Amino acid sequence: MGKLTSSAFLHAPRDSSHAMEDRLKRVRTALASCTGLDRNQLPPDNMINRIGYSGVPQFLAAQSIHFEEMVQRGRIEPDETVLDLGCGCGRLATPFAQYLDGGTYIGIDVWREALDWCRGTVKARSGTMRFIERETVNKYSFEIRKPISRNSYHLSELQHEQIGFAFAISLFTQLQQRDSLSYLSELARVLKRNACAYLTAHVIDDFFFDYVRRTGRHRAATQEEPGCYYAYEGQEFFAGYTYRTWTRMIEDSGLRIVGYEPGHWAGKPGALHHQDTFLVIPLGYRKE
Ligand SMILES: C[S@@+](CC[C@H](N)C(=O)[O-])C[C@H]1O[C@@H](n2cnc3c(N)ncnc32)[C@H](O)[C@@H]1O
Repeated sequence: MGKLTSSAFLHAPRDSSHAMEDRLKRVRTALASCTGLDRNQLPPDNMINRIGYSGVPQFLAAQSIHFEEMVQRGRIEPDETVLDLGCGCGRLATPFAQYLDGGTYIGIDVWREALDWCRGTVKARSGTMRFIERETVNKYSFEIRKPISRNSYHLSELQHEQIGFAFAISLFTQLQQRDSLSYLSELARVLKRNACAYLTAHVIDDFFFDYVRRTGRHRAATQEEPGCYYAYEGQEFFAGYTYRTWTRMIEDSGLRIVGYEPGHWAGKPGALHHQDTFLVIPLGYRKE
């Protein structure tokens, strides 16, 4: 066997480490601009609370962790087109507005008030910001859920293979299975073949059942369809899936899971984020 003189694990190719350093510098600059914003350039407290944060410091901390991670994982360049599904009040739109240079950010949500706030306040430095309101038959994050209503969520404004990186944070945890499936198959259509997407979910597993037993939290989650658990109403609506069901949903939609990390929402070990996170790619992925 040949003698190894240097470790392949320690030596990244020069180009890729330089590209990573450059990206990191641009990420830090974008985030510094966000922390320097005046209070009226950040969402009002009622919006920050509605997406689950207690106030501005927590909102900005979560913003910077997710933003840096996604830009590095997705190798997002400033001229890329990114999609934020369930963009809310622009937690990630704000740093992308600073980061993009010639690129496009597209945020989609059903929450008109938050979209209006984003349109009026989140301005790109030198990219394009687009906020789209998704029409809905039963807006169950604001009203009582009617399981028989057909929402048929789509991304018809977007072209086939238009998106270089997509993310959906705390969206699939709030959607019924049928509605998630509509978005997931649209996602498979609009992602470039060499792109990936970052999605959060609630995986119902042994950590979850142990957490319910220990804490009594989420006892309300009941299995409404095989492998699919729902609880609560309105903005508290909770959707979780067994790993098997979630994997099948992803694969039936034309996507494939390439990364999974547990979240601390149900006391899972080693968690970085609140929810379980997934990296997915389109079936037929090819690196150009
Ligand atoms: C917990 S918030 C997260 C917001 C944002 N992703 C973030 O991380 O700051 C969930 C978001 O999903 C949005 N949402 C709910 N149903 C949706 C749907 N069918 N299509 C798009 N967005 C939806 C809500 O309006 C809300 O903005």
